[in-house]
Amino acid sequence: MRVVIAGGHGKIALRLERLLAGRGDEAVGLVRRPEHEPDLRAAGATAVLCDLERAGADEVAAHLAGADAVVFAAGAGPGSGAARKDTVDRGASVLLAEAAERAGVRRFVQVSSMGAGKPPAPGSDEVWAAYITAKTRAEDDLRARDLDWTILRPGALTDDPGTGRVTLAGPPLPFGKVPRDDVAAVIVALLDAPGAGRLVLELVEGDSPVADAVRGLPTAGS
Ligand SMILES: NC(=O)c1ccc[n+]([C@@H]2O[C@H](COP(=O)([O-])OP(=O)(O)OC[C@H]3O[C@@H](n4cnc5c(N)ncnc54)[C@H](OP(=O)(O)O)[C@@H]3O)[C@@H](O)[C@H]2O)c1
Repeated sequence: MRVVIAGGHGKIALRLERLLAGRGDEAVGLVRRPEHEPDLRAAGATAVLCDLERAGADEVAAHLAGADAVVFAAGAGPGSGAARKDTVDRGASVLLAEAAERAGVRRFVQVSSMGAGKPPAPGSDEVWAAYITAKTRAEDDLRARDLDWTILRPGALTDDPGTGRVTLAGPPLPFGKVPRDDVAAVIVALLDAPGAGRLVLELVEGDSPVADAVRGLPTAGS
């Protein structure tokens, strides 16, 4: 399987690339800084330079040609302001989805966030509100497309070692945390599960082995 990952130098993305490469899949990461290339190579992935706040859809589509799946794992990150929540967390996801349609790559896993899908709570911090609004708008865009999308909303991400056990279900789940290792493992399992298209899923730490959690999902439309 050839998988193109947007935000290819992100903490989840590097874990995902290691898992995919480790089982013989081809992982390609879209990165915006040349100095990130050695880290992707060390993870077993190929880096492609592409700034998702500057590129056009045809350029991105060319990078997706021949892929079996696309993963949106980019994010403006901590320390960024409201404007970049819109240009990355919304805009880059919309661009990637548009490019996936143009390239004919149907399978699309979007890393969103718990809290998306509804308006930010009244009184929320301005940047948090912009982030949740951007994630919600990115989800809405993806849902409207003719793609086999899965929207994955993790809780608070940690760098704790993965446990291989999670709670994965349609919203709403009680808010919780989840190691990035386990998010990456869930993404791999979702990529292997064609029936997981057109599902919105929330993810926190839990008791179910990842494979069982994905196997137990409803198939789309059921
Ligand atoms: N933090 C949390 O608790 C939490 C909870 C739920 C969901 N999430 C979401 O989970 C996702 C992944 O999280 P993570 O911790 O792996 O994020 P991360 O380590 O911050 O990685 C995000 C990646 O996106 C890249 N990026 C930013 N702007 C870009 C652009 N214009 N073009 C190409 N790439 C760009 C960054 O590259 P640069 O290094 O070049 O900036 C970075 O490598 C994000 O969407 C985040 O919002 C986070």
